[in-house]
Amino acid sequence: VWSVDNDVENIRSCTQIVDAARLLRAGEAVAFPTETVYGLGANALSDPAVEKIFAAKGRPSDNPLIVHIGELAQLSTVAGSVPEKGRKLMNAFWPGPLTIILPKNDQVASLVTAGLDSVGVRMPDHPIALALIQEAGVPIAAPSANRSGRPSPTTAAHVFADLDGRVAGIVDGGATGVGVESTVIDVTVDPPVILRPGGITREQMELVIGPVELDPSFQVGAVETPRAPGMKYTHYAPEGEMWLVTGDEAQVRAKMAELLAEAKQHGQKTGVLATEESARYWREQAAADVVLSVGSRHDLEKVAQQLYAVLREFDNQHVQFIVGETFSRDGLGMAVMNRLEKAAGGRILSV
Ligand code: TXA
Ligand code: MG
Repeated sequence: VWSVDNDVENIRSCTQIVDAARLLRAGEAVAFPTETVYGLGANALSDPAVEKIFAAKGRPSDNPLIVHIGELAQLSTVAGSVPEKGRKLMNAFWPGPLTIILPKNDQVASLVTAGLDSVGVRMPDHPIALALIQEAGVPIAAPSANRSGRPSPTTAAHVFADLDGRVAGIVDGGATGVGVESTVIDVTVDPPVILRPGGITREQMELVIGPVELDPSFQVGAVETPRAPGMKYTHYAPEGEMWLVTGDEAQVRAKMAELLAEAKQHGQKTGVLATEESARYWREQAAADVVLSVGSRHDLEKVAQQLYAVLREFDNQHVQFIVGETFSRDGLGMAVMNRLEKAAGGRILSV
């Protein structure tokens, strides 16, 4: 683990960055901070290097990776032509939490794109990530630096807990800022389609390129009856079984209390994913063993920042049954709710 100060003057020449970049060039996998979550990087032009990412994460190789570039000049090493709307999005949001799906070129490792003819590219808005990629001199493929199926890491300690001994190194740049992954938008189709909601909102992008569609796969609606945990939702799951309850506040609290009481009867250790507004209520009720707040429901940026750390904390405390409140889907709320729905495996009760 190399610690690097974010506001050091010439980050690129720090020995930690130089060492980490040398390992990347040598085909090793190295974890580093971005503005969204920590990534596990490797040379995007080398299949043997990228293979190390999949091995360290235990990730199925049919899921393509995002390529990170440190300067616009690196774009042509991985992507072919750039549609005009793609160019506009880059101008508006790079560096930043936006991944743009583009036609790929032949140089990019086939493991990166999982056999697709497109590639996802982003320029992260983080001084350490930019310096590291520039110093490495090659585009860097990087999924989130967690073991497959765990919440994405927002601190170097999270990465260490998941990947110690499995990677060549971890660059520690402190806690990440956005807290949820980048938005993924496909501009090879028109109108462009959001494949994953994230740090850049639909509203922000529509101001720049006009109408943008949502991929139906993440528009999980609230359901009345419990759903079997769907395979496609196993992504961000905590170890405990998680339920979300949505609706009018009083009824939500009553339903959550009922679920908690039932779980307690079954001898399970219980938890509430609460907000600043409700945490005290839940503690006073002593309705659950563990009450964790993700921040104020009126500050979705904070909620996004803290969400994964809170999910990990439930795991650390071996909570077996978790109930959570839901959030507005406006702006960053769409990404927050998408991650919560995945963590809950689609178990949402509408009251
Ligand atoms: O914020 C982020 O995006 C973080 C940091 C490290 O940059 N990275 C990240 O990578 O979340 P990962 O691998 O966990 O997520 C990549 C997402 C997946 O949902 C994948 O299916 C999608 O991007 N993706 C990548 N390439 C694609 C392609 N060519 N077509 C469609 N989807 C693609
Ligand atoms: Mg991930």
